[in-house]
Amino acid sequence: MKFLVTVASIALLAVGAAGLPPDRNGGNAADQYLVKSLPQVNFKIPKSWAGSLKVGSGFGTDSLFFWLWEAETQQGKNDLIIWFNGGPACSSLLGLFKIHGPVIFPKAATKPQRNPYSWTRGANVLYIDQPIGTGFSTGTSNNTDNEHNTAAVVKWLDSFFNVFPEMRSKKIHLMGESYAGVFLPYIAKEVQAQKATLKVKLSTLSLGDAFWGNWAAMNNVVALAYIDEHRLSYGTNIPPIMYNVLKQGDKDCGFPAVRAQITYPPSGPIHIPGNPSGANFKRNAPTPPPGYIPERCDFEGGTNTPERLAYIINYTTCYGICDPYDAAYNYYLSPSANREFQPYNINEHGYDNLYSDGAYIAYLNRADVQSAIHTPHIQFNPCNDDLGGLLVSNDRRIQPQPPAYTIVPNLISQGVKVHIFNGILDYVIPHMGQELVLQNTTWGGSQGFSRPPTCDVLRNSKGQQVSQGREERGMSYYTFQNAGHRVAQDDPEGSLQWLIKVVVRGPNAAWAWS
Ligand SMILES: *[C@@H]1O[C@H](CO)[C@@H](O)[C@H](O)[C@H]1NC(C)=O
Ligand SMILES: *[C@@H]1O[C@H](CO)[C@@H](O)[C@H](O)[C@H]1NC(C)=O
Ligand SMILES: *[C@@H]1O[C@H](CO)[C@@H](O)[C@H](O)[C@H]1NC(C)=O
Repeated sequence: MKFLVTVASIALLAVGAAGLPPDRNGGNAADQYLVKSLPQVNFKIPKSWAGSLKVGSGFGTDSLFFWLWEAETQQGKNDLIIWFNGGPACSSLLGLFKIHGPVIFPKAATKPQRNPYSWTRGANVLYIDQPIGTGFSTGTSNNTDNEHNTAAVVKWLDSFFNVFPEMRSKKIHLMGESYAGVFLPYIAKEVQAQKATLKVKLSTLSLGDAFWGNWAAMNNVVALAYIDEHRLSYGTNIPPIMYNVLKQGDKDCGFPAVRAQITYPPSGPIHIPGNPSGANFKRNAPTPPPGYIPERCDFEGGTNTPERLAYIINYTTCYGICDPYDAAYNYYLSPSANREFQPYNINEHGYDNLYSDGAYIAYLNRADVQSAIHTPHIQFNPCNDDLGGLLVSNDRRIQPQPPAYTIVPNLISQGVKVHIFNGILDYVIPHMGQELVLQNTTWGGSQGFSRPPTCDVLRNSKGQQVSQGREERGMSYYTFQNAGHRVAQDDPEGSLQWLIKVVVRGPNAAWAWS
């Protein structure tokens, strides 16, 4: 990774459409966090505040790093988005600098640029690094425990609102992507439980390309449907002999019959054979044929014959048996398959290049940048892989209930709107998984959507359709046809339109660009 050290810092020009009043003590608790300038930023950006803030009493020296950006439009000044990246244990600064912040490093850019479709056009936006050990957040707590981490975020929010009291009265929108689907609904539930003390109004919860339902439903059951939909895409266009093995495996697992139940409206609860509840799909294991080594669950260094693929679907102990999703994923990525599979966006080639995250990481490792945003001077890593691994293995062991079962329906019944969205080009979380989970979820008195989620269409400024969806009884679901896993990075204009029309303003809001 190359570090950029040559360009002098240029004063940041702050524009505030909605100047923040001083805090309730008339003091300047927030002033110490004001970001006065940002190296290499010589264009106008909204006013922002960043730094480490203690979680609060009972949490020792633990602090979470945050970056708060002021809304740059009048219409957004009454809303506060709180954004979480997934991982788990990936910094939300990824969301800021690569996905929807006002200052971004688009594609392979090496210098920060102004994002014309920044989500600050729809709301004030707060990015938080959590749990402790992620990004610039430091401390000593037991950060592998989801319950502890949830409590820490909610406690921290109270501390945050004490420093920025005018933010307490905004409409709050919790939003996250990917693995945030596992933990963010738990945070939303805790915010609701403590809303009297927190004195906040949680308005919406949005989950993008997120894992909020039965894990097997979201991956294993729908893998073949995704592969079929993208059969001619570069990354999934595999030899027929291998494809036929995937198709047979999918059939042997009984998945086509499960997918056939994605109807509008659904006819009843959707059962998956074997009742898988966690990351692994447990069906009665057939006895492995002699000569197979169970540990060798992937193709790396192995042969990629059709027999091996069939074996992996049937017997792997690494992912759980009956797992066409991981079997295919592994096969696509195997060096011997000689493919440039990009699971985050199926139309792209290569694993590392699509999102080119190196430049923003180098930027956040500059001493002058770290000083400007009041971080501890530590190495910035976008994801804490060790911590992420521990969190996932704890989640697999404890198997927290997927939020789709009761947490999300309860939030809706309390008046919190829930917005699900997904990029069509994403293989990490195939969109059919969202549809299967949604049609199996009961909220607002009935199960699933009554009509296909294609009725409402979002268009870009050229009039082209970029997204379709539907809202019923406080839940919406939108798909983005030109986007993969990071929707707002792949379709900045479409996603901003979704933010303003669907989330911040409600479905009938007039669309305005100014
Ligand atoms: C931290 O939390 C994890 C998950 O709940 C638990 O397994 C572990 O024992 C805890 N460690 C300590 C030191 O409390
Ligand atoms: C449907 O939800 C039930 C729990 O309410 C769960 O046991 C089942 O696995 C879910 N099915 C799918 C396809 O997600
Ligand atoms: C995988 O399981 C199916 C169904 O049990 C079986 O028909 C098939 O022969 C198995 N494949 C291998 C390679 O063991």
